Amino acid sequence: MGERKRPALRQPGSRILGTGHYVPEKVVTNVDLEKIVETSDAWITERTGIRARRVAAPGENSSDMAAAASRRALEMAGVSPKDLGMIVLGTVTGDHPMPATATYVQRKLGAQGCAAFDLSAACAGFLYGLAIADKFVSTGQVKYALVIGVELLSRVLNWKDRTTCVLFGDGAGAAVLGPASGDGRGIVSTHLFADGDGADDLTIPAGGVAEPATHDTVEKARHFVHMQGQAIFTAAVRNLALATKIALEANKVTSEDIDKVVAHQANMRILSALASRLKMPLEKFYLNIDRYGNTSSASVPIALDESYRAGIVKDGDLVLMSALGAGLSWGSALVVM
Ligand code: ACO
Repeated sequence: MGERKRPALRQPGSRILGTGHYVPEKVVTNVDLEKIVETSDAWITERTGIRARRVAAPGENSSDMAAAASRRALEMAGVSPKDLGMIVLGTVTGDHPMPATATYVQRKLGAQGCAAFDLSAACAGFLYGLAIADKFVSTGQVKYALVIGVELLSRVLNWKDRTTCVLFGDGAGAAVLGPASGDGRGIVSTHLFADGDGADDLTIPAGGVAEPATHDTVEKARHFVHMQGQAIFTAAVRNLALATKIALEANKVTSEDIDKVVAHQANMRILSALASRLKMPLEKFYLNIDRYGNTSSASVPIALDESYRAGIVKDGDLVLMSALGAGLSWGSALVVM
């Protein structure tokens, strides 16, 4: 914690006890992509800040990555999988349409018996999960909750579409929540939002009941990510700034009171525009977009775990998290680590 005295915050009901992340071994650089689509390292770096991303191995699934990240989070927390009361997993790339990927993760961890479910809030999935788990832990309904963000987007990208395939990467992040101990550390607030008017801006059109899989849907690449990039860009900057301001005002703190920002790593230009709109130095933002690209719901927990383990985010720091993705769905969280 810095020397500066920050205003008193509400006593959290739950606290992050441990974090973990996992990314696949295989690195795909922009130069590798130059061989697949009509693009260049210079274009991707300049427009997005991305230099490389991870791609899951054949046979490696979202539940495998989620379980690996979760084991690390549980180990840091010192919590046994058997003591979990809930597993909430944010993803848009689950192992199967049914059942929930969280149930496979539960089986892999040996945590059978507790509640386990998926939620679909795209890049905001981890923050939505954090908000839900916080309520269950704060009210005492469960003692320990596991929150996961996992995404295996490489399998739902059209590798012939340069406007989308260069942006995303695979990975998983997790956090274990437990009761706060009254020392101020924990989840201070969460704020969630969505605007269905933007639902068509970022979709995987086919594969659900509206467009079940047919030869035609496969031929037309309707099972891959389709995106209106500029609409998403504008909405992301506007709504992430708004969600941040709401979090600050709700807690009567200013941007100067924030020690670190762990925001969704969508695009370097979105993060820079956000920093300038909030009048916050970009140095407060933890950045790993260059190495992993956009890992959707995994991006916030991967960044949180990396920055915490590296000592960049420290115990007692006031951390602002924010994310926006398909839906459009977005949110913010204020956490004392
Ligand atoms: N390589 C080379 N050229 C490309 C590529 C590429 N990979 N992709 C697009 N282009 C071309 C386009 O075809 C276009 O060419 P044209 O002028 O001949 O038609 C030109 O580059 C400019 O295209 P724009 O779409 O105008 O480029 P823009 O500056 O808007 O950048 C981008 C595109 C990077 C997608 C931007 O809109 C963006 O960052 N949007 C946010 C999207 C995002 O982050 N989505 C992630 C999911 S949602 C979330 O996480 C918030």
